[in-house]
Amino acid sequence: MSEFESAPASTPLLAVENLHKTFDMHALGDKRVVGLEDVSFAVERGEFLAVVGESGSGKSSLLKCLYRTYEPSSGRVLYAGPDGTVDLASCDDRTVIDLRTKAIGYTSQFLDEIPRVPAVDVVARPLHEGGMAVDAARERAEMLLSRLRLPEALWEAYPATFSGGERQRVNLAQAIAPKPRLLLLDEPTSALDPETRAAAIDLLREFLDDGTTIVGVFHNRDVVEAVADRVVVLEDARVREIGPVEAFDREVIA
Ligand SMILES: Nc1ncnc2c1ncn2[C@@H]1O[C@H](COP(=O)(O)OP(=O)(O)OP(=O)(O)O)[C@@H](O)[C@H]1O
Ligand SMILES: [Mg+2]
Repeated sequence: MSEFESAPASTPLLAVENLHKTFDMHALGDKRVVGLEDVSFAVERGEFLAVVGESGSGKSSLLKCLYRTYEPSSGRVLYAGPDGTVDLASCDDRTVIDLRTKAIGYTSQFLDEIPRVPAVDVVARPLHEGGMAVDAARERAEMLLSRLRLPEALWEAYPATFSGGERQRVNLAQAIAPKPRLLLLDEPTSALDPETRAAAIDLLREFLDDGTTIVGVFHNRDVVEAVADRVVVLEDARVREIGPVEAFDREVIA
């Protein structure tokens, strides 16, 4: 059977159904840690869904399950792609890699080690590998780094020596550069100063206007109120509530 089944255009872009993730801690005498418990929600095409909740509530685990960095213990993550619907929780690794290349972008909360490659090439290389001409890929990378206010003097430098905020901008530029249909962003602006954060938000808004769908974890209330359509609140690995951003007290979105 094919990994893909055709879906009507009215289905949500992402339907998360009864997602569970448990971690078996062999080093701790087979203790079980619950990361996500019976999590269900849908993400509509073109919306910005913010995921909030206390530290340890499961936000990063959720994004990792959506990107399949973590394999969910049970449940489904139905992604409605142009070729049909695929269950990201159970599809084969090749399908995951293909979707990551073509359709789904991700930034992790903690910045991964970056290879000894100039910042501009960290962003441009995947574009070139995806078929864009070298010059066009570099031009796009420079445009995004400039929009994210990374000083031009750093474009040819190695991000290994960058500050947390500088790296975060390179990471974000890399994730958004291919214009993925779905962006999964885990606290992508946490290390940025207010002006740079505003620049990043402006850029994300333009992507939304272009039809990108975004699921983002944020701790900053101003960011959530500025960009999110709806909010999912996680508490102790479960969905506590979900609704339009206007429906939440300011205290909930911490
Ligand atoms: N790989 C792992 N192995 C074991 N436990 C894990 C793993 N990843 C997450 N957990 C546990 O799952 C729970 C949720 O963690 P998660 O990182 O998803 O929280 P979070 O909401 O993103 O928190 P924060 O706001 O601090 O980033 C925590 O108890 C954490 O210890
Ligand atoms: Mg986290």
